[in-house]
Amino acid sequence: MQITAKIIDAAKLSTHCLVVACFEGGKLSTSASAVNITPTSKTAGSTKTIGAQQLEALLKREHFAGKSGQNLLQLSPLGIAAERLLVLGFGSLDNDGKVSADNFRKALQKIADALKATHCKEICISLGDISVCDKDAEWQARQISEILITSQYRSDSLKSKPAEVSFVLTKVTLGFNKAQISAATKGIKLGQAIAHGVNFARELGNLPGNICTPTYLAREAKHLARNQSKLSVKILEEKAMAALGMGSLLSVSAGSDQPAKLIVLEYKGGNKKTAPVALVGKGITFDTGGISLKPGAAMDEMKFDMCGAASVLGTFKTLLELQAPINVVGVIAASENMPNGSATKPGDIVTSMSGLTIEVLNTDAEGRLVLCDALTYTERFKPKAVIDIATLTGACVIALGGHASGLFSNNEALSQALLKAGQSANDRAWPMPLWDDYQKQLDSNFADIANIGGREAGSITAACFLSRFTKKFAWAHLDIAGTAWLSGGAKGATGRPVPLLVQYLLDNQ
Ligand code: BES
Ligand code: MN
Ligand code: ZN
Repeated sequence: MQITAKIIDAAKLSTHCLVVACFEGGKLSTSASAVNITPTSKTAGSTKTIGAQQLEALLKREHFAGKSGQNLLQLSPLGIAAERLLVLGFGSLDNDGKVSADNFRKALQKIADALKATHCKEICISLGDISVCDKDAEWQARQISEILITSQYRSDSLKSKPAEVSFVLTKVTLGFNKAQISAATKGIKLGQAIAHGVNFARELGNLPGNICTPTYLAREAKHLARNQSKLSVKILEEKAMAALGMGSLLSVSAGSDQPAKLIVLEYKGGNKKTAPVALVGKGITFDTGGISLKPGAAMDEMKFDMCGAASVLGTFKTLLELQAPINVVGVIAASENMPNGSATKPGDIVTSMSGLTIEVLNTDAEGRLVLCDALTYTERFKPKAVIDIATLTGACVIALGGHASGLFSNNEALSQALLKAGQSANDRAWPMPLWDDYQKQLDSNFADIANIGGREAGSITAACFLSRFTKKFAWAHLDIAGTAWLSGGAKGATGRPVPLLVQYLLDNQ
């Protein structure tokens, strides 16, 4: 999809669809007013009026009040060059004549729905004439680009005959004035790059476990680095991991026929001397629970247990597109969690790369077992901050639902920066405690630490487990169990938290 910012003449512009704004009370934006014309007919020298100002008349007839999320599509409007006219409701204007950022996004999200049944290939969105509270043209253009590109993603790559879709956008023009064009163009670039990262993460997340194996993820990472001077990718095989002493990670892949992979990405776009930020992703390509087998209901959704890994790869995709001037390391612990005859058993004790011994009381608490070794491995990059991203606990879904990712950290500045990034990227996280009080739930009679902490505070004890392996750096843990995918009719990966991660990386170098 090609997106460009241009100065446009709303009434004269030829397009499959012109998109304009209306506010609560039926108030029209400048470009909506420009197309609110009185159609005329020319007959032998005289021009006759053939109707009232058509847009206003239409809105009135349909009781369209410009409420947030309302929209109205007019086919073949008279007297203007556009083939269709889509009016979006932005809700009420504040005292300064501005709409809220939430209402702006809400309105934009309606475009895909409103045009779903049309054959529009090319549209023009004329919203440069509305002001959004605390936001500029760059923000607007970024939102539009992000929303349009992510809304066009389809999870049909494995259908033998993909459903016929009529609304496939190839070209989008954003109407802005001269003073806004350069900021808007910047916003488009950023929005596109983020959306491509998000869609990439979604596609990987949606692929089933029989296709998206640890080996597949490793190949995708290698593929990302092809012909890229700033990115290098290295894959550590099980033998290399054993040599490093990664007994915890390997205890998870022990029960699977698929070999585990440690995928290491190094993006060097910044100053050589600047310490990198490290992203560590949980890449369980299918989580059966192992010998502590999960119940059958909705177990298919455990193909999404590699969404942390997918968000790391998606973030690197965005960084590459932006050629961002920063240094970032990615470490992905990729494995299946399966219950074959060599599988780890409850009660087994394994030795992690850090030297700490772990009593595996429940083989379904496998995410922390692969992450702890990946986190220890990350020490070698002397990172200035380490962020792990993991679909770690069902308990986090209970605590925060699908709205916010759980955020745990041993560093207040890092925690604040991530919260802020999530807020500004519309991909929020929310802080959870990591108090010492919870640590004793991980005591084991036989090893240094147990891999589960009982029923209470499940997402916190999981984070406490990880905290035992992150003492050497500023660290944050994002539990994305509730945010990484949607269930039910809209089942599918969301691509979160790619927007949060990209925002954090760009804002904190
Ligand atoms: N991948 C799951 C977490 C999960 C479960 C995410 C359901 C989203 C929905 C993780 O590996 C797991 O199984 N965690 C256990 C931990 C427990 C055994 C301490 C859980 O949350 O039940
Ligand atoms: Mn599990
Ligand atoms: Zn899991």
